[in-house]
Amino acid sequence: MNTKKTTFFSLACFLLIILSCSNSASAQRKESYLRNNWKFTHSDNDINSQITCDEKDWENVSVPHDWAINGPFDKEIDKQVVAIEQNGEKTASEKTGRSGALPWIGVGWYRTHFTVGNEFNRFILNFDGAMAEPKIYVNGQMAGEWKYGYTPFNIDITPFINKNGDNVLAVRLENLPESSRWYPGAGLYRPVKLIQTNKLALAEWGVDVITESIDRQTNSAVLKINISTVNNNSSNVAVKMSSDACPDINGVHSLDSKNTISIYKTVQNIVFWTPENPILYDLRIQLVENNNTESNNIKLYDNKLVKFGIRTIEVSESNGFALNGETRKIKGVCLHHDLGMLGAAINKSALAHQLTLLKSMGCDAIRTAHNMPSQWQMDLCDSLGLMVMAESFDMWIYPKCKNGYSRFFKEWSDRDLENLVLSNRLHPSVIMWSIGNEIPEQGMKNGNALTRHLQDVIHSIDKSRPVTSGCDRIDNAISTGFAQVLDVTGMNYRTHKYNSAYEKLRHGFLLGSETASTISSRGVYKFPVKLYQNKAYDDGQCSGYDVEYCSWSNLPEEDWVLQDDMKWVIGEFVWTGFDYLGEPTPYDGYWPSRSSYFGIFDLAGLPKDRYYLYRSRWSNEKTIHLLPHWTWPGREGEVTPVFCYTNYPTAELFVNGKSQGKISKKKTDAVNFEKNDELLDRYRLRWNNIIYEPGEIKVVVYDENNAIVGEEVVKTAGKPHHIELETNRTSIQSDGDDMAFITVKIVDKDGILCPDADNQIEVEVTGCGFFKGICNGDATSLEIFTKPSMRVFKGMLSVGVISSTQKGNLNVVIKSKGLKSATLSIPVY
Ligand code: GAL
Repeated sequence: MNTKKTTFFSLACFLLIILSCSNSASAQRKESYLRNNWKFTHSDNDINSQITCDEKDWENVSVPHDWAINGPFDKEIDKQVVAIEQNGEKTASEKTGRSGALPWIGVGWYRTHFTVGNEFNRFILNFDGAMAEPKIYVNGQMAGEWKYGYTPFNIDITPFINKNGDNVLAVRLENLPESSRWYPGAGLYRPVKLIQTNKLALAEWGVDVITESIDRQTNSAVLKINISTVNNNSSNVAVKMSSDACPDINGVHSLDSKNTISIYKTVQNIVFWTPENPILYDLRIQLVENNNTESNNIKLYDNKLVKFGIRTIEVSESNGFALNGETRKIKGVCLHHDLGMLGAAINKSALAHQLTLLKSMGCDAIRTAHNMPSQWQMDLCDSLGLMVMAESFDMWIYPKCKNGYSRFFKEWSDRDLENLVLSNRLHPSVIMWSIGNEIPEQGMKNGNALTRHLQDVIHSIDKSRPVTSGCDRIDNAISTGFAQVLDVTGMNYRTHKYNSAYEKLRHGFLLGSETASTISSRGVYKFPVKLYQNKAYDDGQCSGYDVEYCSWSNLPEEDWVLQDDMKWVIGEFVWTGFDYLGEPTPYDGYWPSRSSYFGIFDLAGLPKDRYYLYRSRWSNEKTIHLLPHWTWPGREGEVTPVFCYTNYPTAELFVNGKSQGKISKKKTDAVNFEKNDELLDRYRLRWNNIIYEPGEIKVVVYDENNAIVGEEVVKTAGKPHHIELETNRTSIQSDGDDMAFITVKIVDKDGILCPDADNQIEVEVTGCGFFKGICNGDATSLEIFTKPSMRVFKGMLSVGVISSTQKGNLNVVIKSKGLKSATLSIPVY
């Protein structure tokens, strides 16, 4: 045989093996997203016709889909005359933009068609969340329903399936006004999956791999593996497990009388999962005929590949929070679920972009405020390395808004919690569960018993993770016993109460479950620079000097003092990582504010100055950041403070070459800044009396040994001259779903950002992709996210583009009247 022939022959054999493997795998289980070919309508005229009739007038959409994101913004949408009790309000007043002012209220219908494989006889629909109150119809018959829009759920549609032809899936959703404190999004905003299996199959969410213990000396671990099956009537079925990277797991185990297995395995040569090294292992699970497991003709009933991580979590008085036995303070942020310009409709690469930005700040955890996360987000947290507090509810029985989750709590909360835990327990990233945020029952008689019950519901499925809840009224929560019951007591704000709470609680540690709520707008600086509570300005913006907060909240430094000086504070989740739609505090009653100011990043995903403040504390990467910008026509001769955010102790500032003094961070005794802002000098370098003159400011930064480590220069900008583009991706995939984000900057002739530019720009996308969205981060902008034209805000905005299924280049042209256009090409592979 000549070499060419041999190679061809081996290739053919190889392909044959691959094909036969995938054939046999698909004969046991097929999981596919129902992504394209959906139809959507708002009309709710006649239920029967919605379920069965012809949908030619309906809109073509793909899922995930948020029916409200095309806008327009409207002051009247979900306008509420309420007193927000959580914010300490006693009298009702008009609140606009509280839930985003986008048209998310009302009824929506989705419909799609699908066929099933003849070889299968069990069919499940998996909804990763559907906003809200989904009712599911298959071939005209009601197959199931859910209430809470955030809960993932499975519906067994086997009895309704037509195996020999077309199947019609219709979903009705309904959103009531005053049902949310933020923008919830609307519709099938998370994926819908069709799962086809044999009758005898692995249960959905039926696999759990728990790290019971680890030995860091020998890099070994003891794992407990639980697997459950459905519809087994035979005693002759076993589970076969195999893992290439973790072969100690391999083996065949008979099902017990409950049709489950629960076994312990000691595994060697393990790399433990951490945010810094998020190692995942593959585990193939096969349901097989028991007496035939070694034969080549092994009879397979089901076949599934999952990923897991090996790590332990511990919370204790002696060690605080420990991952794999090592104490660490959680450096986390809270996130709402919307993705700015995309609304609530999730997209994997947009989620990855968000999490990657957070990691670049040194952030190691997220809290999914205040509801169940999406599976895609948890997959990404596993693989990128972010720990997760997976939350469930923002209210229990006592409502925070008229039509909120309280309507369902009594009947549904156990099921909702069970699904939260079952669907997420295999994710190593999840380190704790939260049964609720600022639950009013913390101060009520029934609070203690309810807490115990909900915590028990979780522990009946998962004992390996602690349960928490964020308390905003800690004295009440302690007096009712609510706080003591929890595995981990979470404190929301109220830094002045940490000490007394710690003393009264049994735990010996406390978590900052929600911290800071500092407010700022990217690139906006207000004078004079003073600490302000609930400060509102005529333009609906907040100061970028990071000195403004709410009546219940604080600046980052107050949390840091506690974490640095109190061993027993186990970390924090900052409110919030990104701005989100809705809750425009302190402009809850000011139109046109319609999104938050709390974010470390703005709604467009662009970093505010605060990004560098957190990064200077959380990351080991060198951070040297100067603020404000230095283009202040009209401020000549006026006091214009300059701050430097850096992880080094000392710096000298120069204005046009003249030294303004070399200063160092100071360890003060101050623990809060209410009376004295000197606390800020422990973490920021501030030159408070700088007189503005155009030119440049320069900071030279020194380390502990007084050696120069770097410098940063900010120059006065001239007139807008051209457009600069940067993107987060060097190439994207031709899967029709991969996204790149492009930062658009208006700069002067020397490339210096024009910090007040508000030019209107137009976006054109050609080639292998499409325009997807646009956002400038201005919380008061009413321009819509899905039209390719917008004003830049403070010189910048972000554009999202999405791949088609063609390979080639995606070409972007950004134009603005009077400026030279800019182009960018992203390879699509
Ligand atoms: C908290 C609440 C959050 C958000 C935040 C704003 O009390 O838990 O959902 O409203 O305040 O500061």
